[in-house]
Amino acid sequence: MRILLALAITCTLAGCGSTQSDPQSSREPSQAAKPSEQLALVPYPSSVEVAGGQFTLTNRVHIEAADGSETSLPALQRLLAQLDITDSDTAPSQIELIRVQEPELGDEGYRLLIDSQISISANTDAGLFYGVQTLRQLLPTEVQAEYTLPMVAITDVPAFAWRGNMLDVARSFLPTDYLKSHIDRMARFKLNRLHLHLSDDQGWRIAINKYPKLTQVGGASAVEGGRSGFYTQAEMSDLVAYAQARQVTLVPEIDLPGHTQAALASYNELACDDVTNLSTYSGLEVGFSKLCLTKPEVIYPWVEDVLSEIVELFPSEYIHIGGDEIKDPLYPEFIARATQIVDELGRTAIAWEEGSVADNDPDVLLQLWNDEYDIQPALDRGHQLILSPCSYSYFDHGNYAGQPQTYDWCRKEGVPLERAYSLDTNAFGAAVGVESAMWSELVHTDAAADNRLWPRLAVSAELGWSQASQRDYQQFTDRLSKLRPQLDALGIQYYQAPELGW
Ligand code: ACM
Repeated sequence: MRILLALAITCTLAGCGSTQSDPQSSREPSQAAKPSEQLALVPYPSSVEVAGGQFTLTNRVHIEAADGSETSLPALQRLLAQLDITDSDTAPSQIELIRVQEPELGDEGYRLLIDSQISISANTDAGLFYGVQTLRQLLPTEVQAEYTLPMVAITDVPAFAWRGNMLDVARSFLPTDYLKSHIDRMARFKLNRLHLHLSDDQGWRIAINKYPKLTQVGGASAVEGGRSGFYTQAEMSDLVAYAQARQVTLVPEIDLPGHTQAALASYNELACDDVTNLSTYSGLEVGFSKLCLTKPEVIYPWVEDVLSEIVELFPSEYIHIGGDEIKDPLYPEFIARATQIVDELGRTAIAWEEGSVADNDPDVLLQLWNDEYDIQPALDRGHQLILSPCSYSYFDHGNYAGQPQTYDWCRKEGVPLERAYSLDTNAFGAAVGVESAMWSELVHTDAAADNRLWPRLAVSAELGWSQASQRDYQQFTDRLSKLRPQLDALGIQYYQAPELGW
């Protein structure tokens, strides 16, 4: 590994000191170190050493990529193409993607060194991919004659393996083009799990070959004012591959045994015989529908069939079976059986927090969504959590109090940027990571989705990647504020948060 030739200054979250032009004097941390002295990176890396010099990248560069750079090399090539930089063997400067074996970098960490060349080293293709994303944020978004970069040595390892976002495509459908853009945007910020809430009372969004009425009937409905539609299996396979090429895992959720009106309207026999309302539903209520848990001979074969097709489509290690907002004496038994079915299909289940009442294998992940839910008994049994406490993580809530077309049932002041950032990821016990959620009862267009998701998804990125001890809201907003051109170049119609000066 090359080392930075110039005197290096370790930049902590206190900033790099006011020393870019005079590295010698920088060894004393500057009292007046301003947040603006951090590099404009979100999420902020674990360690940044700035040498004080600059590296110039011209419009020709030589790329050296290790074998197995399946996603990182195309990501680098896309970046260079956006900036009109061509790959040439005779170019004066070089970008290297190097595979190393350094246990401290783990599965996703990387080093990015910019001195007389640019090199990214990692144990894995994923690590190299994230190094490329950091390089992407350091570069401008517009084509220039040449590009100057700070000489830096960055070492970066994520805090959490699960850095997620959930989109409710069931209440209101989101087209695949939107999801592809969303995956690109997530990847830019090192987010790596896209949880798709594929079924609910108002719609069923994924084609299941054995039960075509699920999409014929359930795919044609939506929440009032929302969009109907569904993904064919071919479209979903294409999306899975698109996401994999960007280090994003699509995590499917089939919400069971409640939130199932679209399924009941499609296949009436899944409901109990005394249920009379079996039409599709476009309202806003929750908690009124369920599979008939006293008809195990009907519902379990159906659950098995549906989940069998789901695991064929989605390579994700984890499959979400929902489990929220339903009361039924047979509920714990249902959840235990559903998580067991997922296990028998060779995957591991996720359930919303209520699923913790069932006798599940401790491998089952639980997704916490009510801040005050008593999850301790499940932690005591060895379960791990995905953190989505609603008063920090529900991005269908307002960017500010009273924002039109937003919810406030979890927090009447909404979930402004600072609130989202203040989530203490250490407070809830064993967590695999964080996941923000956007329910779509009130979010019916791509523009509205962008407005609810951004810039708050940049918070999810920093909560998921940067160590809790490193986080600083003032510095975060200062860095994010400077990344506005990156969001613009990604076509994001973000909420213009005043905190960012936008
Ligand atoms: C949920 O918000 N019902 C998980």
